[in-house]
Amino acid sequence: MSKSPLRIGIAGLGTVGGGIIKLLNSQAALLAARCGRAIEVTAVSARDRYKDRGVDLSAYTWHDDAVGLASDDNVDVVAELIGGEDGVVKALVEAAIANGKHIVTANKALIARHGTALAKSAETANVTLAFEAAVAGGVPIVKAMREGLAANTFSRVFGILNGTCNYILSEMRETGKEFDVVLKEAQELGYAEVDPAFDVDGVDAAHKLAILTSLAFGCEVNFDEVHVEGIRHISPLDIEFADDLGYRIKLLGIARRTDKGIEQRVHPCMVPLDAPIAHIEDVFNAVVVDGDHVDTTMYEGRGAGEGPSASAVVADIMDIAAGRLPCAFTIPADQLSKMQVAPISSHVGSYYVRFMVVDKPGVFATIASALHENNVSMEAVLQRGRSENEAVPVVMTTHEADEAAMIATLETIEKNDAVVEPPRLIRIESF
Ligand SMILES: NC(=O)c1ccc[n+]([C@@H]2O[C@H](COP(=O)([O-])OP(=O)(O)OC[C@H]3O[C@@H](n4cnc5c(N)ncnc54)[C@H](OP(=O)(O)O)[C@@H]3O)[C@@H](O)[C@H]2O)c1
Repeated sequence: MSKSPLRIGIAGLGTVGGGIIKLLNSQAALLAARCGRAIEVTAVSARDRYKDRGVDLSAYTWHDDAVGLASDDNVDVVAELIGGEDGVVKALVEAAIANGKHIVTANKALIARHGTALAKSAETANVTLAFEAAVAGGVPIVKAMREGLAANTFSRVFGILNGTCNYILSEMRETGKEFDVVLKEAQELGYAEVDPAFDVDGVDAAHKLAILTSLAFGCEVNFDEVHVEGIRHISPLDIEFADDLGYRIKLLGIARRTDKGIEQRVHPCMVPLDAPIAHIEDVFNAVVVDGDHVDTTMYEGRGAGEGPSASAVVADIMDIAAGRLPCAFTIPADQLSKMQVAPISSHVGSYYVRFMVVDKPGVFATIASALHENNVSMEAVLQRGRSENEAVPVVMTTHEADEAAMIATLETIEKNDAVVEPPRLIRIESF
């Protein structure tokens, strides 16, 4: 092996950064054989120099300031595993690119916010910006779309992009427990953060979706235009109704080319039970890609955790070691188009709606007339229980309708005194 080793500087030594050091050590011979050269960690940075991380760091140069890795002459690749979209992380990545160092990161927030600009800088500096671990962790979806499926025009990419939400929804279905109870249990098990907002409010999935959209449609990353809804309002009642109607409720991120532009949306969906993605349970992630020649393909696996995340980061490092230096978003960053955005109000689809209704004369007439006025046609209606004074759930599914018409319909129905809480709407996804 005549080539000199590829030298890695690791910023962040938590779950992923620590996992990378362990993987690079345990697989050193295999990686060198596959890349034609050795991969060596030369420098590291984290907040606490004295924390026991279960790995020997004594051979590496320690940087108190992570940005110092950007000017370390013994570093060829900066692996950024701190997280967050600005501050030290952005400063480190920008400085490292400017100094001609390749970047490998697992940071979806950074790429969703600054991906286009960073990719342009990286191409100008003739270095790589790689982020396989940023989307679906150990599932190699970036490579699949950029390389294995490179000959296809994509019409849609969607997936279960957040393991925490998928775990909570799976648990709620299996146990019948409320969202808050399952969230607390998930926190105790380490499946949810102490501050769960990023996960359960859909932001994390939206970061990943924005990256997938750019890969699929050759447009600039546009996180601000992702329509985002989380799972806090999902109730065991909706999960039960979904079962009765032949659906599973999943938090999906969906990017689709429509005649109005590109839709990017993250929200709970009713997924038909005959769709393979309906059966991805627990903390697992899955991404489905529709390509014009390959048809539909699905990729499933662990979206987080030390091993899966390190596996993805090291695969990116191996590409650099072997001299494979693809464009971050498949095509050169200055050729990415401005996205023509299809707003959520122009979405056309079927809907599940649940009303809590007191059985009073006239309420069904109001529902029927609101549907008629807005040209929304009902597919099925279900009512659970009957009680003179207590509200009971009434569930309706619709045929395809405009989102704007659907919202107008619900606004009219909600005004009826017999409807005692805001209607719950969940989009039905067809596959
Ligand atoms: N965890 C996963 O399974 C997973 C999966 C896919 C992607 N990711 C992404 O990978 C990245 C890292 O996640 P993680 O789970 O490994 O995080 P983590 O366990 O919280 O580790 C973060 C590391 O960053 C260090 N750090 C924090 N602020 C720093 C600063 N200003 N300067 C230098 N180091 C600093 C911390 O140092 P101390 O240890 O000294 O506190 C810690 O070692 C994030 O972008 C995350 O979204 C994670």
